[in-house]
Amino acid sequence: MQVNEYMVILGIETSCDETSSAIVSKNPEDTNAKILSHIVASSLSLHAETGGIIPEAAAREQVKFIIPVITKTLKDSNLYPPSSKNYLLSSTIYRPNIDAIAVTVGPGLIGSLMVGVETAKTLAYVWNKPIIPVNHLIGHIYANFIKNEMSFASVSLRAKSQRSEAISTVGLLRHVSYGTWLRHSVPRNNNIDFPLLALIVSGGHTDLVLMKKHGSIKWLGGTRDDAAGEAFDKIGRLLGLPYPGGPSIEKAAKNGNPKAFNFPRPMIDSNDFDFSFSGLKTAVLRQVKTIEQLSNETIVDLSASVQQAIIDVLVTKTLKAAQKYKVKSILLSGGVAANDKLRDEFRVQSSEFKVNFFAPEKKLCTDNGAMIASAAFFNYKPVPWQKLTANPELYFDT
Ligand code: KG4
Ligand code: ZN
Repeated sequence: MQVNEYMVILGIETSCDETSSAIVSKNPEDTNAKILSHIVASSLSLHAETGGIIPEAAAREQVKFIIPVITKTLKDSNLYPPSSKNYLLSSTIYRPNIDAIAVTVGPGLIGSLMVGVETAKTLAYVWNKPIIPVNHLIGHIYANFIKNEMSFASVSLRAKSQRSEAISTVGLLRHVSYGTWLRHSVPRNNNIDFPLLALIVSGGHTDLVLMKKHGSIKWLGGTRDDAAGEAFDKIGRLLGLPYPGGPSIEKAAKNGNPKAFNFPRPMIDSNDFDFSFSGLKTAVLRQVKTIEQLSNETIVDLSASVQQAIIDVLVTKTLKAAQKYKVKSILLSGGVAANDKLRDEFRVQSSEFKVNFFAPEKKLCTDNGAMIASAAFFNYKPVPWQKLTANPELYFDT
């Protein structure tokens, strides 16, 4: 069900290593939701030290940041009277002018998910607001339905967390407000026409789905082993590049030759819409073993070549599906969608097939609360808070 009145939704996302919340509004006549305030706190730099995410460490960071992040989001939205000192815990319960709460219920890391879910349930109970469970993967798709006219804070909270176990709320908020504020104004074609194909490419998933309308999702295929982002991350580690591998490989690839190494394009011609990326990682490993000393020149060439192999597979298979299902739009989403080369190749090749191509603003490709709120406007199915549970295995209904 779609919301057919002006509404304001608080979206909460804690499925992995980002603690994020956003207040998003939508007019029924608008095709896009609009961000009123948005905070993304990432514990990524903590995981960079260990070369990957340790689930328990990620969950602990979520616990630390969830209340300060939501508090700051509420404050920035101006939905509270300016006189309010403590936005969540005033002596008389203040119910903010939001209409509903949307929260990621899965898939993701159980410990991380539970932090967002239990917080959302508590707020729904105290504020007496409806709560909408959102599938994280569907959330990624709906980052494409956000018109973002404002800047938002995206900060690494590692520096603060290193200093003390018990972070004072005031200290953290100060840290957040001193974070990097970015202004984006991306001219967008707002007409996302159905039927559409959505390709979700993240660290945990590579899925291709067909949507005939909002709420109607048909899963066409997905990865049989590693996700595209996972392949970037594992290969990045092989090349000695900083975690996460995706952005590191993209940066290195800018100076490399994509034709220097001829890596396989797994399943590019298969008669289905499945993907496989683990063989690519093995091929890179084999190649690396033949090289005595990895020079910077070789690393940039390896990066460019492997990035091209992943892009070729993603673009070719998605366009094959676009032809088969005669879609009008292709929507890219998930962390890997932040890759410029991937966006460019999709843009060029989609236009050759007369299909409109969309990708979220880069800041909205990785995990964030705004996409969760956006998904809730177009799939408005509140549940009693007592029935809400985190489900790390949640997937698409096929
Ligand atoms: O969607 P996301 O933030 O988290 C998951 O739900 O997994 O995606 C994170 C993934 C990581 O694997 C990361 O390496 C990849 O997205 N990624 C990129 C880029 N930025 C992030 N991959 C390729 N190029 C990028 N620029
Ligand atoms: Zn994600």
